[in-house]
Amino acid sequence: MTADEMKKQAAWSALEYITTDGVVGVGTGSTVNHFIDALATIKHRIEGAVSSSNASTQRLKDYGIEVFDLNDVKEVAVYVDGADESNHNLQLIKGGGGALTREKIIAAVADKFVCIADATKLVDVLGKFPLPVEVIPMARSYVAREIVKLGGQPVYREGVITDNHNVILDVHGLDIMEPIKLEKTLNDIVGVVTNGLFAMRPADVLLLGTETGTQIVN
Ligand code: A5P
Repeated sequence: MTADEMKKQAAWSALEYITTDGVVGVGTGSTVNHFIDALATIKHRIEGAVSSSNASTQRLKDYGIEVFDLNDVKEVAVYVDGADESNHNLQLIKGGGGALTREKIIAAVADKFVCIADATKLVDVLGKFPLPVEVIPMARSYVAREIVKLGGQPVYREGVITDNHNVILDVHGLDIMEPIKLEKTLNDIVGVVTNGLFAMRPADVLLLGTETGTQIVN
């Protein structure tokens, strides 16, 4: 089974968590693209979606699923999104696709965060995947110097501008033993918009696509 087939399996399993007829929170990435394909098959049952990126918004609209502004929505019962890494506490690294800030906002609003991923994403210690940090463009060099002081090696994701018109630093070389502490420390650097650690608000359930079916971790 390929990694993409495992992503697809996890994504379709997430349909079981769409139990209300309200607005569904939709993340970003290749795993979520499979989820949007799945969601389209039950679109008559939901009111619509809120989306964490322009790319997901377009895919949802292509299926005829209404996409709401988050400010116009009272409740998001379920948010479904992928991850670049998850530890066993369901704390995540996200943002490989650059949509981390909007992802973190919808995750904060949602009652339940269902993370979907292929089995390779579950790790003991976060940090092998470079940690994305979204930064206001004029603060890029300053933030990079501050991150070096914390022991990380920031790499500018050249040519990438986020949906919020910011830039991304991918931080290599971190063994993240205290995810909540690092999430807060990075957020405290002036010029940082968000970082890709989802530790203060981890997932509530992780659906892992494996060779033998979807494994539920919670
Ligand atoms: C998008 O910014 C990310 O947070 C994605 O959720 C993450 O990169 C996982 O992407 P894939 O589903 O493409 O592996």
